[in-house]
Amino acid sequence: MGKLPGNERPLVGQRANVLKTQVQELLAERLQAVKSAALAERLARETIDVTAPPSGIPMGHRHPLITTTEQIVDLFCGLGYRVAEGPEVETDDYNFQRLRIPTDHPARDMQDTFWIELDHTLLRTHTSPIQIRYMDSHEPPIRICVPGRTYRYEATDATHEWMFHQVELLAVDEGISLADLKGTLQEFARALFGSERKVLIRNGYFAYVEPGVELAVDCFACPGDDPKCAVCRGAGWLEIMGAGMVHPELLEAAGYDSSRYTGFAAGMGPERIAMLKYGITDIRNFYANDLRFLRQF
Ligand code: FA5
Repeated sequence: MGKLPGNERPLVGQRANVLKTQVQELLAERLQAVKSAALAERLARETIDVTAPPSGIPMGHRHPLITTTEQIVDLFCGLGYRVAEGPEVETDDYNFQRLRIPTDHPARDMQDTFWIELDHTLLRTHTSPIQIRYMDSHEPPIRICVPGRTYRYEATDATHEWMFHQVELLAVDEGISLADLKGTLQEFARALFGSERKVLIRNGYFAYVEPGVELAVDCFACPGDDPKCAVCRGAGWLEIMGAGMVHPELLEAAGYDSSRYTGFAAGMGPERIAMLKYGITDIRNFYANDLRFLRQF
């Protein structure tokens, strides 16, 4: 520019500016094209198919025991029962005394107990205390089912845990008889196990019922006479429930007229029921947290 004659300088300068602008525009265009191509290529690589099934996200599912307990509760709700609950830390009074098991009664030996010495409470050994708690605060007619955890100081084996569950039943009304209990238990067994499973109702002792019965289901793990069978030890039956007609003394203690009202009660073990349903030969599998076991359900 410096060597040009003075009159040509503005013209050349002007043209140089136009040229510079054109080059800058072309460069910007080119840069934009390169960037767009890179973005398109990246998007193509990162495409998400929102319709594709999720891959490999581990999902939990229901524990077989929860499924079984819900099935039991659903069944009884369908028969007109309502769900009740109560504390897992109980008093000696509700857990034993008011169920006609005084301190020196041999029936205490049937349930080895975790005592809390500090305030003379205990971890409830069964759900039967809720019979008393409910009758204390309600009038007949009563139909309740009570699912919950229970605790016993057990030497664990294939059919005994130290922490397990029970579902308690209580029905109190005018005119309830042993035939109603039997019919209810038969309906329960048919719904849970199907009609092809054999069910045994035999007499059993519980201080708070009279008469008392036990319900057992035929063993699935052996032909029924194998003394080495961990499930039935050769007896051919697995006991899943205690039951009976509510003792009149319990009804009177709750303020009911026992010449007018009668009732039945039962306490069943969902662990044993789930063992029978799924063919599980050791109760300890439920709480071992072994995914190889849990993933089967
Ligand atoms: C009772 O606990 C009574 N309260 C049942 C009852 C209720 C009788 C109402 C009469 C009227 P039992 O100790 O048999 O009875 O236990 C009942 C059920 O709980 C057993 O049939 C079994 O299925 C389950 N069960 C008892 N102990 C254990 C244990 N250690 N591990 C797993 N399940 C158990």
